[in-house]
Amino acid sequence: MKVGIIGCGGIARGRHIPAYLANPHTQLAALYDPAAGRAEELAAEYHAAAYESLEEMLMHPGLEAVSVCTPEQYHHDIVIAALRSGKHVLCEKPMAMNAAQAKEMEQEAERSGKILMISHNQRIYEPHWKAKALLEEGVIGKPLSFRTFLSHSGPEQGVMGEEERASFFDRFEGNGGVMLSVGCHRIDLIDWMFGERITSVMAYLPTLDKRKSDGTLIRDEDTAMVLIRCGSGLSGMLYTGWCTYGCADRETHIFGTEGVMKLFEDPWSLAVYKKSGEKIYYDLSPWAKKGSEGATAIIDRFITCVTEGKEAFVTAQEGVRCMQVLDAIAESGRTGTWVNIKQ
Ligand SMILES: NC(=O)c1ccc[n+]([C@@H]2O[C@H](COP(=O)([O-])OP(=O)(O)OC[C@H]3O[C@@H](n4cnc5c(N)ncnc54)[C@H](O)[C@@H]3O)[C@@H](O)[C@H]2O)c1
Repeated sequence: MKVGIIGCGGIARGRHIPAYLANPHTQLAALYDPAAGRAEELAAEYHAAAYESLEEMLMHPGLEAVSVCTPEQYHHDIVIAALRSGKHVLCEKPMAMNAAQAKEMEQEAERSGKILMISHNQRIYEPHWKAKALLEEGVIGKPLSFRTFLSHSGPEQGVMGEEERASFFDRFEGNGGVMLSVGCHRIDLIDWMFGERITSVMAYLPTLDKRKSDGTLIRDEDTAMVLIRCGSGLSGMLYTGWCTYGCADRETHIFGTEGVMKLFEDPWSLAVYKKSGEKIYYDLSPWAKKGSEGATAIIDRFITCVTEGKEAFVTAQEGVRCMQVLDAIAESGRTGTWVNIKQ
């Protein structure tokens, strides 16, 4: 199957391209990026075609599927154009800038009959699917509450060059804050892992430390603290941020009627502490040593869904749900009140 990449930056180079090159069912055929030379350089390396416009690229002969790896403010228009041209689409997270855009993308996917899958790759991480399986087995009884963290030192840290790094947030303005960019992973996981629906949220969205090159704080939040209520009465706390310096924080604790489940990062592991005093420990470090396999596996899942005609592993509908929760969190941050999720 011929596949294409739209947006040839970090995530395309680090995950999508290696995954398509390694997958026996795919041929990397077409690339597009408006930044001069970016698509051409990769096209030369991988014997693919580079295009100067999205429209031309989408007309590449025999092209069946594309990955949309652009910044999120372009996802809506590009995904709709790709679906209209008859392509299956794997769209990076977050699906869009808001739920209204995401809904239009979902509707276009329905109209086109093509697969639109959202790249919420953290579902593939072993600690997460292991936790989901154990919760379904009832290992800690009925989950009552949780606290979940996902924070690191910021998106600018990986940028090459001191000057580029210092002015990163000048260019980033308008892309949304850490909740949209990073917190979306946890919102997707909560619904998926617990088989629940988030029904209302209360958020505090401060900007604590990230600055533009003129020294002023960025407009959007660099830290998010959110209280979450779900349909069944399950409730929890989410912390996500770009101001965690020195180490990342990816831990989650789940408190159930029969015990506690802890997902650790250092080393990757999962522990169950039963009410009876029994402790079960799962060493997941072999998984972590395999590097980014968990991240690229989502791309293989997409290809399997296309070749076997299955429903998307992360559906457009689930992407819309995630965006509805993110909209509610943004509204709660503005108003300082609990906000119900619009269905
Ligand atoms: N799933 C994950 O864990 C994960 C991790 C990192 C990034 N992402 C997501 O991937 C997307 C891209 O992030 P990135 O880190 O690769 O960013 P990046 O800035 O490294 O790359 C984005 C690329 O898109 C190109 N681009 C910009 N506008 C375009 C347009 N209109 N059409 C085509 N190309 C365009 C840019 O020139 C650039 O090459 C974002 O939505 C981000 O949230 C997901």
